[in-house]
Amino acid sequence: MVAIVNVVQHLPTKVLARSVTLAGLAARLLWFDAQVTEALDADIKQIAVIGAGYDSRAWRFRREGVRFFELDHGATQQEKKRRAPSPAPIYVAADLTTQSAGETLVEHGLDTSLPVLFVVEGVTMYLDEKIVRDQLGGLGKSSAVGSRLAVDFYPPRDTGTSLNHRQNRLQHLARLGSGETLRLTIDRSEAVELVAGSGWDAIEETSLREAARSLVPSESGLPVNAVNEHKTLVAGLRL
Ligand SMILES: C[S@@+](CC[C@H](N)C(=O)[O-])C[C@H]1O[C@@H](n2cnc3c(N)ncnc32)[C@H](O)[C@@H]1O
Repeated sequence: MVAIVNVVQHLPTKVLARSVTLAGLAARLLWFDAQVTEALDADIKQIAVIGAGYDSRAWRFRREGVRFFELDHGATQQEKKRRAPSPAPIYVAADLTTQSAGETLVEHGLDTSLPVLFVVEGVTMYLDEKIVRDQLGGLGKSSAVGSRLAVDFYPPRDTGTSLNHRQNRLQHLARLGSGETLRLTIDRSEAVELVAGSGWDAIEETSLREAARSLVPSESGLPVNAVNEHKTLVAGLRL
């Protein structure tokens, strides 16, 4: 959070006022961080970040006795391994379109007798719905009772305010050339159904705007009320 406040303090006021994207990113990061904190407080000793990219939780939340796994495309992971400091998480290279994340994690040492928190942040929208259902279902099957899931979903393009639409177009431009294309766009009820239909008990559902209002500090000055209310965050529990 200190990093976010530092970035925000150095932005010109006009940019800041318009920085709905930054407000949304801060909300997303803080909501997933809260899920990690809750899991650690509940004595969960395994955290597996799926589609980890440059996620830093393995370092920021590092503590004795807790194992962090990071699953991602091999190519993305190679670059991260080159840059990341030690001690490192357990890196697992896999393609989510062709390999089961759950099975691959187990092959790399995930203990199926102990609960785990799966962090799936900023990933589902780049995969087809069937793959997301299969992967979330597979994570449930590969994990002990009491395991948790934290996952977010991108809304249909025509939802949200005109400002959100402009923001979407800018994000689309930013993604060009990255190889990431939006594939799964669903609203909140569909997102909750997808999580529940994959075998998880959906214990928390919220919108990114609600998360922004409750988690982003007001002193950041970020426009939390303009964050897209149709972006969904869901927490699941394996019963
Ligand atoms: C937008 S980034 C999100 C990264 C990180 N979770 C975050 O929130 O900052 C999407 C991530 O999903 C990974 N990803 C997308 N499709 C994938 C696939 N088919 N197999 C493995 N990883 C994939 C990408 O490599 C990338 O790291």
